[in-house]
Amino acid sequence: MENYAVLKRKVTAFAFALTLGTAAAAGATSASSSTTPGDDSAPAATADPGAAIEIPDLSGYTMGFAQVGAESGWRTANTQSIQSAAEEAGVELIFTDAQGEQESQVESLRQFVEQGVDIIAFSPIVETGWDAVLVEARDAGIPVVLTDRAIESEEEGLYVTFLGSDFVLEGEKAGQWVAEEFADADHVNIVELEGTTGSAPALDRAEGFRTVLADEKFEIIASQTGDFTREGGKEVMEAFLQAHSEIDLVYAHNDDMGLGAIEAIEAAGFVPGEDIKIVTVDAVRDGMQALADGKINFIVECNPLLGPQLMDIAGKVLAGEEVPERIVTIETTFTQEQAVEALPDRQY
Ligand code: AHR
Repeated sequence: MENYAVLKRKVTAFAFALTLGTAAAAGATSASSSTTPGDDSAPAATADPGAAIEIPDLSGYTMGFAQVGAESGWRTANTQSIQSAAEEAGVELIFTDAQGEQESQVESLRQFVEQGVDIIAFSPIVETGWDAVLVEARDAGIPVVLTDRAIESEEEGLYVTFLGSDFVLEGEKAGQWVAEEFADADHVNIVELEGTTGSAPALDRAEGFRTVLADEKFEIIASQTGDFTREGGKEVMEAFLQAHSEIDLVYAHNDDMGLGAIEAIEAAGFVPGEDIKIVTVDAVRDGMQALADGKINFIVECNPLLGPQLMDIAGKVLAGEEVPERIVTIETTFTQEQAVEALPDRQY
């Protein structure tokens, strides 16, 4: 298997080229679509990557799934998607919740190996530190599927495929919107609410955003983790507001932290979405409502409904079929107008 860092760069380059409408799709492992930031004519409806998938019959098989925790609305929707798809597939699902602790997630994986499950899937809390336990799974002949988040490793063959979003592209989409929104500004003071330190979405969303906003007029004056939680976003934003008198924009790595920031901004006597603009990632219902209400200005979608695709992959792997080593989730972006349109049908 190709080194993940190399693979990530290739996938990002491909998907970003699609955004710009210039690239041929050669070598892509799956479809990826996007809309141009701020393009109100773009379709508001989100793509559900699992909607067209026929969930296979996996009765008689056991799947161990080690979840990150329940830190956000996104995670809750992701857990529900996996559990309901597993039920529909008839697979025996051993589901564990690591509550944000890598040690606990490693322990779950180790137990899955000891229990001799047929397949393991997990969403790694952080990128590194998985080699030992994944080597144990590989030695035991248990296939591993990464969902949502990737790992960084020099070791070959630790997992069969990685199903999830292109987080770098998400950061780039957020950055593109900011570049257009502040096209006429001389200087933009940005504060960033980062996701969990060391996690793939935090690292990649930061990277993509910076790549697009390379112009020195965009200044990230403060950046700190809010751990993907609403409380974290609120606390960090309170500190930012105390330390900085001029904040033009909040870039929150997820909706929950953006929603926490809104509370802090309102408590400080400012109007979120007007005095301080806000761009977030996820597009969960609460985030979309805040976008429709004008408190958030733009959301980049990160789709959590991975359950049907995961069951489909598991069925193929268990049947000995080849699966692509990278499967990128189909995602879009939302303006305030698009959020109003999409909200009535929003599933999560
Ligand atoms: O890994 C996906 C990220 O994890 C989501 O964007 C965030 O809300 C969640 O906690």
